[in-house]
Amino acid sequence: MPVPSTPAGAYEICIGKDFLGRLWPALEAAFAGRTLFVVTDAEVARAGHLAALLGGREAGVYVIDPPGENSKHLQTVAEIVEQMDRGFLGRDSVVAALGGGTVGDIAGFAAAIFKRGVPVVQIPTTTVSQADSAIGGKTGVDSSVSKNAIGAFWQPAAVYIDTATLQTLDDRQYRAGLAESVKHAAIADAEYFAFLEAHVEALLKREGEALVHLAEANCRIKAAVTAEDPTEKNKRRILNYGHTIGHAVESASGFGLLHGEAVAIGMVAAGRIEAALGLAADDRGERIEGLLTKLGLPTRIPRGYATEGLTDLMKRDKKAVGRRPRFVLLEKLGQALCRDGQWACEVDEEMIRTLLPRLVAG
Ligand SMILES: NC(=O)c1ccc[n+]([C@@H]2O[C@H](COP(=O)([O-])OP(=O)(O)OC[C@H]3O[C@@H](n4cnc5c(N)ncnc54)[C@H](O)[C@@H]3O)[C@@H](O)[C@H]2O)c1
Ligand SMILES: [Zn+2]
Repeated sequence: MPVPSTPAGAYEICIGKDFLGRLWPALEAAFAGRTLFVVTDAEVARAGHLAALLGGREAGVYVIDPPGENSKHLQTVAEIVEQMDRGFLGRDSVVAALGGGTVGDIAGFAAAIFKRGVPVVQIPTTTVSQADSAIGGKTGVDSSVSKNAIGAFWQPAAVYIDTATLQTLDDRQYRAGLAESVKHAAIADAEYFAFLEAHVEALLKREGEALVHLAEANCRIKAAVTAEDPTEKNKRRILNYGHTIGHAVESASGFGLLHGEAVAIGMVAAGRIEAALGLAADDRGERIEGLLTKLGLPTRIPRGYATEGLTDLMKRDKKAVGRRPRFVLLEKLGQALCRDGQWACEVDEEMIRTLLPRLVAG
């Protein structure tokens, strides 16, 4: 078992490769006297990760089926807590969330409300969840109207990242999740950005050492930002870099674009805004776009989207104030821009309206 390698925050984050098969006894030791309950999804189970975690042991398990966003609603949470209750689980139970961001968000929320809150252990298995959703304590589900409408902040008791689980992940999902790594590097760590540029091939081949380094850097950055501002009052907003236009494009695509793909486009758009504001005299825009392209991520809004509609969607963004969208921009590569104590800047709507059509794929 790897030892915790990211001390920031109150919980341990263990990063390593190929330890899932040895994790259960470590969990039993860490939560001695408590009952573990596993939440996973059908795809993660099919890929063999549930069997690897349990190693033939009996345990309460809820398998989300179908996997993915379509199951991220209150009914799934209700079924999980009902099953736990029927199984005589009490306040001494611990939820282990094995899977991607949807499993982590659903299971984390179920843990937050079961018997008024039991610990959750996050065991992320996607590039999105290992870089992003497993850390920081945001949990929840979608309403029939909007994404992540119902939820709670519920910090994990521990996070266990086995990068070997990524080997079975679909290629498009794998690459899309790397966008959040580019985001972390761009807002917080220029050296990490250079590492990503130098290791594109190793990352695309999913080489072990590169993946461990990636997880360590992502956790260090996300844990530091969320420890400073756990409930997103201000600085945590920098994690939304690329997300104002990203979310709008994602929703305009009818979720045909994966979240990370939309965020890649959003980061390029943020670069164009910086350039238009005269903030980007350096080559950061080209470097970010170059890295995303090498990682096989889109950098242009697909043809056929009404860019007018995108501006309206941005007004629904959670960073918007009085329906005026706000953007996280960069001071320089590796550092987000802070203006008058604010990490998300208001940008003239006319500028966005002029800029968006130029970002549509030719
Ligand atoms: N809480 C947060 O801070 C936060 C941050 C970012 C994203 N999110 C949420 O995360 C969700 C997206 O997460 P995601 O991209 O991990 O999606 P996901 O959990 O839906 O996983 C994507 C697909 O990959 C499959 N899968 C997962 N791990 C696998 C593996 N190792 N091998 C094979 N298949 C595997 C899943 O079954 C699913 O079909 C969204 O709902 C988003 O809102 C939350
Ligand atoms: Zn994101």
